[in-house]
Amino acid sequence: MQRTFQVLRVDETSKGQFEFRIEQKSLQDLPEGNTLIRVEYSSLNYKDALSATGNRGITRAYPHIPGIDAAGKIEESDSKYFNPGDQVIVTGFDLGMNTWGGYSEYIRVPDKWVLPLPKGLTPRKAMELGTAGLTAGLSVLELLKNGIKSKDKILLTGATGGVGIISLSVLSQIGCRVTAVTGKKDYHELLRKMGASEILSRHQLQEKNQKALLKGEYAGAVDVAGGSTLAAVLKRMRYKGIVTCCGMVDSSKLETTIYPFILRGVRLIGIDSAECDLKLKKEVWNKFAANWKFDFLPECLTECTLEEVPHYIEKMLRGETIGRVVVKTAR
Ligand SMILES: NC(=O)c1ccc[n+]([C@@H]2O[C@H](COP(=O)([O-])OP(=O)(O)OC[C@H]3O[C@@H](n4cnc5c(N)ncnc54)[C@H](OP(=O)(O)O)[C@@H]3O)[C@@H](O)[C@H]2O)c1
Repeated sequence: MQRTFQVLRVDETSKGQFEFRIEQKSLQDLPEGNTLIRVEYSSLNYKDALSATGNRGITRAYPHIPGIDAAGKIEESDSKYFNPGDQVIVTGFDLGMNTWGGYSEYIRVPDKWVLPLPKGLTPRKAMELGTAGLTAGLSVLELLKNGIKSKDKILLTGATGGVGIISLSVLSQIGCRVTAVTGKKDYHELLRKMGASEILSRHQLQEKNQKALLKGEYAGAVDVAGGSTLAAVLKRMRYKGIVTCCGMVDSSKLETTIYPFILRGVRLIGIDSAECDLKLKKEVWNKFAANWKFDFLPECLTECTLEEVPHYIEKMLRGETIGRVVVKTAR
């Protein structure tokens, strides 16, 4: 008898709206690929929320099964790198964008997208971090490779979000003094517990916005917001400051003068977690497995089922999720 399993499917209605449904699928429905994986956990990222609500820059055609992250066990593969039973992680590439994603008990993908789960992580722990954690790790690695040291002052935006909270924890473990920017008044205490030495509201960050440069206070910054948020971050960097930029929760546009770059030598570095080299992804996962200890406070982590994902997508798009949402795919 053909094995069936459940997926979360998104459909576009004739009115251009997007609807979710839990559907039963069988292995023969899966796309081609040399590696079949039984997914134990996936996670919710901002990109999933956009993919599931019709952002054509991410997902061109519907019906679609989102989920840019997956962790579980190899079921079948003709890869020379993997054997059935191996525990693995898949994040990024085209998973969950225009390829059947991780909101499914099974995925089939090319082995070149797959990484072995490092010792020290479980599938659940890996998906607590997920693409947000990978992106936080890539951002921190860029800061370190460009000379940031412990005790340096770092500015961090979107602090209560997935990338933000993980960056905060890692940077504070390294010994950096992190100023966390947040729009959430009720979560200052939580951010302090996660390692923030100072909190700024989004409003405070944007004060004196008409000036081209502000006091050069920060050696580094991790920005997840883009738009006027990133412009305000650039103005506050000290000489040779280094800023990573990964997201656009404020805006995909950036309006800035060139003064931070030509008067202070500020460097702006883009972060891409999806297509980046597997070697670099591995470096970050190994850091999480061995060096960067990561325990979420209970308020920063939610586990949900596939049925509950649409509820958390709505919350995320309203900017109301705190930390990470991990998705249990298997029944
Ligand atoms: N380049 C890559 O490879 C990559 C990978 C992962 C994520 N990303 C991008 O990074 C961004 C953050 O991802 P995430 O997973 O951390 O999302 P998230 O969990 O939804 O967190 C985003 C946080 O940004 C803050 N925020 C919301 N609206 C804002 C606004 N208008 N202005 C300034 N801050 C705002 C909120 O935190 P506060 O309330 O605390 O301010 C929110 O919790 C997204 O744009 C995502 O697409 C990119």
